[in-house]
Amino acid sequence: MGPFSVSAVGFGAMRLTGPGVFGPPGDRGEALAVLREAVASGVDHIDTAQFYGPDVVNELIRDALYPYPDDLILVSKVGAARDRQGRIIAAQQPAQLRQGIEDNLRTLSVDALPVVNLRLIGGSEPDAFFDDQLAAMVGARDDGLLKAIGLSNITSAQLLHALQVTDVACVQNEFHVGNRVSQPVLDECTRRGIAFVPFASLGFGMTGPDAVLGRSAVMEEAARLGVRPAQVALAWALAVSPTVLVIPGTSSRRHLRDNLAAASIELDAEAIHRLSST
Ligand SMILES: NC(=O)c1ccc[n+]([C@@H]2O[C@H](COP(=O)([O-])OP(=O)(O)OC[C@H]3O[C@@H](n4cnc5c(N)ncnc54)[C@H](OP(=O)(O)O)[C@@H]3O)[C@@H](O)[C@H]2O)c1
Repeated sequence: MGPFSVSAVGFGAMRLTGPGVFGPPGDRGEALAVLREAVASGVDHIDTAQFYGPDVVNELIRDALYPYPDDLILVSKVGAARDRQGRIIAAQQPAQLRQGIEDNLRTLSVDALPVVNLRLIGGSEPDAFFDDQLAAMVGARDDGLLKAIGLSNITSAQLLHALQVTDVACVQNEFHVGNRVSQPVLDECTRRGIAFVPFASLGFGMTGPDAVLGRSAVMEEAARLGVRPAQVALAWALAVSPTVLVIPGTSSRRHLRDNLAAASIELDAEAIHRLSST
């Protein structure tokens, strides 16, 4: 991931809150245990955001893992905030991005973050406002608040434009067997060796025939291999490009173990084709 070498399976920490990514988790002990077991099992990149909770997830990460292992890459994101009712609202202005970075540093108790994603909300074209946002990220990096810049919810045009301004360590867009809208962005990342870190690689954990974990192709492949549907979904994401790193989110150690084991599941070409065709 940019200047950092990390394992294929990381951890998405968003699910460690209460319902609706808001407030504290129902089981704080399990949330701390999930984080500790993840790192003890070799997870070396954790995706987070100050607006998860808000503050809740960053503070759990700090309480579980501080002082952080040298090789742990904390990846946060800026571009959103929470209102009084807990709704996620845009915080896209350059000054808000800077404030978001500083809020992350405070809640994670670090002086600098390895990677911060600029998480875009609205707008798909590279415009003057996007340039201002990139300038805020580059300014924060120049000031030593972060080491590498990532982009989230972007189009290929925005990625190509951003690359004229800065190195891009990673791209984080939604991508899974049920949603391949970002395939052109993934292809661009693959060509350029930029880490593509899909979010919702488990389709947000939903089941049912249209959801990732309930799709017949996923369930049939899982049954054929004697593994879990979630493991097939993750193995597929890892198989579609060598540049993919997955960050499945879970609040349970049981699911964490399943998800980490997905790294060693190899799908054959026929299975990849079948899963990609549904
Ligand atoms: N950049 C962005 O805009 C953005 C947006 C959304 C998320 N993200 C990041 O991406 C990460 C992943 O996304 P996500 O958590 O929304 O979706 P996800 O990883 O597709 O799915 C998470 C859901 O799947 C369930 N799950 C996890 N492992 C499972 C397993 N082995 N078997 C069955 N169910 C399983 C979890 O429930 P349990 O808790 O019960 O395991 C949870 O409800 C987040 O944690 C967050 O860090 C980024």
